[in-house]
Amino acid sequence: MRKPVAIIGAGPSGLLLGHLLKQAGVDCIIVERQAREYVEGRIRAGVLETVTTDLMHKLGIDTGLNANGLHEEGFNLADGERRIRIEITALTGKHVVVYGQTEVTRDLIDAAPERGLEIVFEAKDLAIHGADSDAPAITYSRDGIEHRVDCDFIAGCDGFHGPSRKSIPAPLVREFEREYPFGWLGILADVPPCHPELIYSNGPRGFALASMRSPTRSRYYIQVPLTDRVEDWSEDRLWEELALRFDSISERGVTRGPALEMSIAPLRSYVCETMRHGRLFLAGDAAHIVPPTGAKGLNLAASDVAYLADALIGHYRQGDDSALAAYEARALARIWKAERFSWYLTKLMHRFPEDGPFEHRMQQAELNYVAQSRAMQLAIAENYVGLPL
Ligand code: APR
Ligand code: PHB
Repeated sequence: MRKPVAIIGAGPSGLLLGHLLKQAGVDCIIVERQAREYVEGRIRAGVLETVTTDLMHKLGIDTGLNANGLHEEGFNLADGERRIRIEITALTGKHVVVYGQTEVTRDLIDAAPERGLEIVFEAKDLAIHGADSDAPAITYSRDGIEHRVDCDFIAGCDGFHGPSRKSIPAPLVREFEREYPFGWLGILADVPPCHPELIYSNGPRGFALASMRSPTRSRYYIQVPLTDRVEDWSEDRLWEELALRFDSISERGVTRGPALEMSIAPLRSYVCETMRHGRLFLAGDAAHIVPPTGAKGLNLAASDVAYLADALIGHYRQGDDSALAAYEARALARIWKAERFSWYLTKLMHRFPEDGPFEHRMQQAELNYVAQSRAMQLAIAENYVGLPL
């Protein structure tokens, strides 16, 4: 088979890119390792910046988003007793939309057939060939049959563990990494959120986040040591802990209910600056990871893809390769700023095991400063709603 663009991975990056290319008349195929049900079942963050909602509107895949997305005009930083509201709309004129990545992914997959966007699920043993040649290709097997897609360009949208980044020769890879000494234990439940807006709290018992998916569905997280396993946490124990952290600083207090999902995710900052290798372009988690504090992961994937779609469309429509040449630098400029903000908010809001009383005082002083300074609040708000493309 021959396609102009072969996209590896049907996460948000690959799906958005595929739809944008199709809409512009550039043919492509998406090849995904997992089954559709698995891809649609993954529970991830749910705060969308304008960059992401704009893409969904531009694609016209926004029925669910328009009907169920929650406009948030503020969010809160708390220190256990005090809640500091960051008035994002009053400060920046913008807002964020709470709408799950799970729903974004499902909407994009649902819209694929009617737009002729081909997605191959359950593709095994994917391999990349000749990325730095004029004739790149991917091969994979499905139901025991070998397939080959010859193409002009390969988009590596295959997440942190995918084969795209690993196919770049090691000496060419410029990468930067920071691991954090804790993870986030998350719970999703059909109970009303404790507060109408998100609360990130750094209290004496550690970090916790109160988030939501809808007026009847809550998402909470707490910081846990990396050695903890989900099995160490009963639902009751987690609800107990959440009540201790949020009852006194939220409007309604924590309502308990059966967990729809519970999982632990490690926290990492990672950037692979080598986002292009010949005709292979990386986008989204394939090139970078942010800790979830600030919910930048999906939104960074969306900005990468906006740049990459632009660049590929420029190639096919105008025969202009300047945006392809500029892709890496353009994407990295935004990535590093989001990396900085996610790292900053992670440092400010968590208890690090290596920290002592001095570091705690620094965190308190910073939160006191944020509470009193409109300039600090504006700096946080403009990063939270998303820096311009
Ligand atoms: N062959 C085909 N597909 C693959 C392969 C492979 N060998 N390896 C990985 N994939 C697929 C994964 O199964 C996954 O569906 O690539 C997809 C990558 O999707 P994501 O991990 O969701 O990455 P991305 O689309 O860049 O989305 C970034 O997702 O991880 C979150 O927080 C992150 O919100 C951010 C967003
Ligand atoms: C979520 O709702 O899952 C969520 C919200 C904000 C974050 C991370 C995750 O910073």
